[in-house]
Amino acid sequence: MSNFKIALLDGDGIGPEIMREAVKVLDLVAERNNISFDLIHTPFGASAYFECGHPFPEQTQKVCDEADAILKGPIGLSHEESQKIPVDMQPERGALLPLRRRYNTYANFRPVFLPKGLAHFSPLKPEIIGDGIDIMIIRELVGGLYFGEKETGKTADGIRYVKETLEYDENQIRRIAKVAFETAQKRKKVLHNIHKSNVLKSSVLWNAVIDEVGKDYPDVKVENILVDAAATYLCLNPGRFDVMVMENMFGDILSDQGGGILGSLGLMPSACLGDDKAYYEPSHGSAPDIAGKNIANPYSMIGSVAMMLEMSFNMTQESRNVWHAMQSVFADGYSTPDLSRPGSDVKMIDTQAFGDRVVAALKALPIPA
Ligand code: NAD
Ligand code: IPM
Ligand code: MN
Repeated sequence: MSNFKIALLDGDGIGPEIMREAVKVLDLVAERNNISFDLIHTPFGASAYFECGHPFPEQTQKVCDEADAILKGPIGLSHEESQKIPVDMQPERGALLPLRRRYNTYANFRPVFLPKGLAHFSPLKPEIIGDGIDIMIIRELVGGLYFGEKETGKTADGIRYVKETLEYDENQIRRIAKVAFETAQKRKKVLHNIHKSNVLKSSVLWNAVIDEVGKDYPDVKVENILVDAAATYLCLNPGRFDVMVMENMFGDILSDQGGGILGSLGLMPSACLGDDKAYYEPSHGSAPDIAGKNIANPYSMIGSVAMMLEMSFNMTQESRNVWHAMQSVFADGYSTPDLSRPGSDVKMIDTQAFGDRVVAALKALPIPA
């Protein structure tokens, strides 16, 4: 019997609420497939800072080091609450970026997916959505402005200044380019390379390496698009995109825009892959505005479980089943309130009820051979 050890980082805000629903699904997957998941909850984020004095405590590092995969809930506090924590101990700088760096999870897959039948969730008109939205954003996750050198200080005249550097070397670009081309090869064989080479030298190098790597994938057509224009096309014609690759900061912003065109960030799961370790998390944050109300959409967290089943445990069919179970809850007319639009006839359910319905739908699907 297979046994996988999974570190569970519940996180902050809605994190524990949506993690609970993900755990229900994991428990059922284990039972149905006669495998065992060793699920180890371990503190991470602002809650860990208040409990243990550090947002990424040593005990959590150890659990993550030993785990076969990591499932992470969102971290972070509201802007006001965050100010109560020293800047370098805030969970983004003190936990999330160190997690990404520790496991070198350079390849961040952020699917932006809405089948045609659920087009009513999107703020875009049906004629713009056409057959649905199906984009894979591939975001470089351990380079660029996030990890470049930083300096703050004062000039001789007492003027405060800050310097942050956008750094990439060709090896960092090459490895994410390969991931992107390989993904495009398995999909529609079109890769949209998102850049800003009319201003940024980093994009000039980025594009040169994309061209070089592309020679090894002659069947993949590359379309180069400036990032600002890409933001517009995402709204006006999302169907023109399939696989998109971009540097860290562009990917942060465009993937949230992806959540916007779907209708909610609650529809945005993600996978963060390194060569030796992977972690899975919703693309969104801890949603302080709705935390503690049992109304968050757990799709992003359960979708992250589906990505983990496929990408870390090779359970491709069961992963499909989890996606299918979630889609069927929507198809039956139910949703959490984030996807309920004025005048829509969606039947509103809470976080727990959504998880229960996913579990019931999954139980009804055949167990993979
Ligand atoms: P957010 O993503 O938390 O929320 C933006 C909006 O989306 C809010 O209205 C929220 O209610 C809604 N939303 C997000 N997830 C939802 C879900 N599952 N169901 C229903 N609605 C959902 O962004 P923010 O408010 O700018 O940030 C809050 C905190 O989260 C900040 O501290 C930020 O740094 C942190 N953050 C963490 C991560 C992460 O852990 N990877 C990602 C993004 C933001
Ligand atoms: C994300 C988040 C993080 C990022 C923050 C919380 C550091 O916005 O995962 O998209 O900017 O990468
Ligand atoms: Mn973000």
